[in-house]
Amino acid sequence: MAVESIRQDYPVAALPYTPDVARKTEHIYRRLNRIIPEIEWPVHAPYIVAIQDLKTQHHATILAHNYQTPEIFYGVADIVGDSLALAREAAKTDSAVIVVCGVHFMAETAKLLNPEKTVLIPDLEAGCSLASSITAEDVRLLRQRYPDTPVVTYVNTTAAVKAESDICCTSSNALDVVRSLGARRVIFLPDEFLGRYVASQTDIEIILWRGHCEVHERFTAAEIRSYRDQYKGIEVLAHAECPPDVLAEADFVGSTAGMIRHVDQKRPPRVVMITECSMSDNVAVEFPQIEFVRPCNLCPHMKRITLPKILQSLQDMKHTVSIEPSIAGRARQAVQRMLDLGSKPSR
Ligand code: 13P
Ligand code: SF4
Repeated sequence: MAVESIRQDYPVAALPYTPDVARKTEHIYRRLNRIIPEIEWPVHAPYIVAIQDLKTQHHATILAHNYQTPEIFYGVADIVGDSLALAREAAKTDSAVIVVCGVHFMAETAKLLNPEKTVLIPDLEAGCSLASSITAEDVRLLRQRYPDTPVVTYVNTTAAVKAESDICCTSSNALDVVRSLGARRVIFLPDEFLGRYVASQTDIEIILWRGHCEVHERFTAAEIRSYRDQYKGIEVLAHAECPPDVLAEADFVGSTAGMIRHVDQKRPPRVVMITECSMSDNVAVEFPQIEFVRPCNLCPHMKRITLPKILQSLQDMKHTVSIEPSIAGRARQAVQRMLDLGSKPSR
């Protein structure tokens, strides 16, 4: 992307790239020089320095999801990971302020686990198609329809939906959470494809909802077969939110963190990650010897978070995340039950 078009994406006046900024960010750029073109660095670097300074001033911790762009992921984040890791780390942090570089449900989870702290999200519009696919009222109706059936809710939901659930799960631990209930039948919400994947791994009857991730539902099995034809010996890793026929073509199915672990353990020479674009960029930084083929489906919600918005968020202490007390207690319980299940992610 050309420098001018990056600047247009940035909502506040561009900061100057001074020799001091260049010196302070040199060590970061050295890691990213295969991923971010040299011409772009003067745009990002001044924001990185300004954010680092404000972070210290406010005793803030920045959490960033694996789908954040590399200048955020490697430039300003203190803790990175999948949604399960971010929830766990949010529960442990002792900072007064937590900035969530991810989507709104992730910020809500951080707030649920830190009710006394200030939790900020740099863009309130950073939503999720799964979270908006179901309401609390839908869950109450399902409970009426399937009485005495436990409700497992994917963390990609609003706090109000979590509050109507027995327990939460992420793509890392969905199967373990479902099994932990010891039930013959479970309502699994709202990701149909993740639910189908869990159903394929167990005899427990799974009642599904028709929610989909707008990023992962666009991948096709034909696309995977074409990567296999084009790139001999390629290892195909797919996120569990992909459609079942895509998952059937994959060598590994799991969460974003599960994919990283798989690459780390197996070290295949060529990899394609069937998931959001920035993931491969971030993983490629850690594994320079591996060739990453990069199909690109962007999550428009994740991409709302930018360095200038993070800076503004810390400058103005916005946007603070708050959760109605009548919802927060019950939603926290559902998240906490998941965290209490143990620390080992399964996928
Ligand atoms: P992970 O739990 O794998 O981080 O996935 C979250 C997400 O939003 C995937 O689209
Ligand atoms: Fe939601 Fe999909 Fe974006 Fe993840 S990638 S935040 S599931 S829309």
